[in-house]
Amino acid sequence: MISVSTLITNIGELVTNAPDADDGGPFAGPGPFAAIADAALVVEDGRVAWSGPASRAPAADEMADCGGRAVLPGFVDSHAHLVFAGERSAEFAARMAGTPYRAGGIRSTVAATRQASDGQLRANAGRLAAEMLRQGTTTLECKSGYGLTVDDERRSVAAAAGITGEVTFLGAHVVPPEFESDPGAYVDLVCGPMLAACAPQARWIDVFCERGAFGADEARAILAAGRAAGLMPRVHANQLGPGPGVQLAVEAGAASADHCTYLTDADVDALAAGATVATLLPGVEFSTRQPYPDARRLLDAGVTVAIATDCNPGSCFTSSMPLCIALAVREMRLTTQEAVWAATAGGAHALRRADVGHLGVGASADLILLDGPSHAYLAYRPGVPLIATVWREGELAAGAMPTA
Ligand code: NIG
Ligand code: FE
Repeated sequence: MISVSTLITNIGELVTNAPDADDGGPFAGPGPFAAIADAALVVEDGRVAWSGPASRAPAADEMADCGGRAVLPGFVDSHAHLVFAGERSAEFAARMAGTPYRAGGIRSTVAATRQASDGQLRANAGRLAAEMLRQGTTTLECKSGYGLTVDDERRSVAAAAGITGEVTFLGAHVVPPEFESDPGAYVDLVCGPMLAACAPQARWIDVFCERGAFGADEARAILAAGRAAGLMPRVHANQLGPGPGVQLAVEAGAASADHCTYLTDADVDALAAGATVATLLPGVEFSTRQPYPDARRLLDAGVTVAIATDCNPGSCFTSSMPLCIALAVREMRLTTQEAVWAATAGGAHALRRADVGHLGVGASADLILLDGPSHAYLAYRPGVPLIATVWREGELAAGAMPTA
C-alpha cells in the first residue's frame, strides 16, 4: 500500500490536548486542554504525523483548507446504550408532565428487545452509531443490558461488537421480572452462564448500583466475576440518590463511575484519591428534570471528569455530544475548555485509551472540523449543526473534504 499524507491547513484553532512533546516519555495519551492558533496538521497512515503553526507546515501529498475554522479531536462518548428495540416517548412526555423518572422503565425496553430479531437490533444500533458519527463522535462505548437472559444478552453484546470495540456487558442493569422473587438467583445467572456467554465479545463489565437495581454486595460480586473473566469494571453510580456506587467503583479500580449526580464529601474524596474517572451525563438531568451534578466540586477537588451522552431510550435519548457540551457549560458551569476536554480526552481516560481524545503525534487521526472559528461555538451556538467534516483514522467519515 502506498502511504499518502494529507496536510490539513488554515485551521483557525486546533485543539490538540497533546501531551507534552518534550517529556521524552512513552506515548502516554491525552494531556491537558491545549490549542494552537493558525495551525496545520499532517495525517499519514491514519495517524497524526505532525501538528503546529501553519507557517511551518511540511509538504504533503494532498491538502485540505479549513478556511480559518476550528479542528478538534473527535468526541469520545464513553457511555451509551444503543442495543435495544422500541421507544419510550410516552414515558418522557409523562415525565415532563410531572411523573418522576424510575429505573423500572428499563423493563419495558427489555420486553421489546427480547421480541426483536438480531437483524433489528443490529440495524437500530448501527443507525444510532451513524447518527453519532455525523455529530462528531469517533469513539463510542456501547452497553448490553436490555436483554437480561443469557441468549438476549449474548446477542446484544454481539450487536454492540458490530459497531464498536468498546463493548460493555451490563447484564446487571435491573433484575428482570421473572426473577423478581429471587434476585439472588439472577445475580448468580449474571456471574455464571450470562457472563460466560458475553465475555468473549466484551471489554468491560458494568453494574447499575442503585436502589431499585443492585446493592453494594451484589455489585461487588458481579464486578469481581467480570474481572475474573477478563473484563474491566465500570459502574452506574449515584444517579437517583446517594449510595455506595461511587466508593465501590473506586475500590474496584473501575475506569469510570458514571452519573455521579448525588455525591457526599466522602465520595468526592474517594474519586480524588483514586484513578476512577467521574463521567457526567448532563443529557440525563436534562431529560429527567433531576438536578445537575456539581461538576465544579469534582474539578476543584482534582477529579478527572468526562462527559458522555448515556444515549438510551429511557433516561436520555440524545446521541449529541455537542448538546452535552452545551449543557455542561451552561448548567454545570464547566468552562468551554473544560467541557471540550471532558468530551474528548476525558472520555479517552474513562475508556483507558491513549490513542484517542487528543491530536498528539501518533494519535489516531480522528478529527472534527467545526463550522466556527473556536471550540467555544459548541456551547455558544447550542442546537446548531456545527460539525462540517469528520475524519476517522484519517479517512473522511462524514461531511465533505474542506476546500478554501
Ligand atoms: O444510564 N441507569 C441505568 N441505565 C440507564 C437508563 C436506562 C433506561 O431508563 O432505559 C441510564 O440512565
Ligand atoms: Fe447508562
